[in-house]
Amino acid sequence: MSIVQLTSREGFARHRRLRRSEGLRRLVAETRLSPSDFVYPLFVSHGAGVREEIEAMPGQYRISLDQIAREAEDLRALTIPAVLLFGLPASKDAQGTEAYAEDGIVQEAVRAFKRADPELVVITDVCLCEYTDHGHCGLIVDGEVDNDASLDLLARTAVSHARAGADIVAPSDMMDGRVEAIREELDDAGYTQTPIMAYSAKYASAFYGPFRVAADSAPQFGDRRGYQMDPPNAREALREIEADIEEGADIVMVKPALPYLDVLSRARQEFDVPLAAYNVSGEYSMIKAAAERGWIDGRRATLETLTAIKRAGADIIITYHAKEAARWLRE
Ligand code: PBG
Repeated sequence: MSIVQLTSREGFARHRRLRRSEGLRRLVAETRLSPSDFVYPLFVSHGAGVREEIEAMPGQYRISLDQIAREAEDLRALTIPAVLLFGLPASKDAQGTEAYAEDGIVQEAVRAFKRADPELVVITDVCLCEYTDHGHCGLIVDGEVDNDASLDLLARTAVSHARAGADIVAPSDMMDGRVEAIREELDDAGYTQTPIMAYSAKYASAFYGPFRVAADSAPQFGDRRGYQMDPPNAREALREIEADIEEGADIVMVKPALPYLDVLSRARQEFDVPLAAYNVSGEYSMIKAAAERGWIDGRRATLETLTAIKRAGADIIITYHAKEAARWLRE
């Protein structure tokens, strides 16, 4: 690159030349956000006519199956290619039975979305925490979340989602070896074409607070620090991601997004597989709360955040802002 071209007679660079108008700025933008980047997360519950706003997540709702056709229509109109489904079961037990029930809430929601719009990519969150009465992501053995005992149920859950028609399954439990276990069970059941999006570098984060209220999935004792990653660690995230790719993950994820952009950026440099970032509930709620008080411009803060996540290296952005951002990007 020739520095000389940029340098004026005065001897310094005129960086501002290309910032003078909206047109110029658009022309030289290095990162372009598009609705195609987004995955919209959604909470589905039993019942009829349910469209219940989640208090700590203004603009986000728990919906029942009869609302899904309308949801699919919205997403299609906004050209958002994918949803990520979370379920609120009718009842919880120690084994998280509804997670892998053929007629479980997520399985039914997958069918409803596929009926409404076969083109929409339906991704399912594979985890036990919404379905267990103790609220942990795996089975409890001797007071601890048992890694190996949980793998079977996670794999069964993933297969039941694939059988219902899920396009991608996304394990978020953080048990070791779960990608391999899920890949094996999917293949054995004939779902060799169902991709796995692994929550690979998922941190034990305070930013999941609003989600846990929305999904009623807070642990009833202890916390998730024994299986989710410790926030100070970035090199370890690369080992987690590498292991998931070796086990058969098609897409890997860093979660949360904003506090871990360094991890995202390093993952982008190290690995060639599609990379997702989860802009989680607490990140959403913070913007909403501050904007409600008039302390920040919500629209600008949202688009800046999503652009930053993409700039750091995400190919896929899972975000509760998906719909509003898609609308703003079209204006
Ligand atoms: C389930 C799961 C969680 C989230 C996604 N999948 C919660 C958790 O790990 O406690 C969080 C998503 C969000 O905060 O938006 N394991």
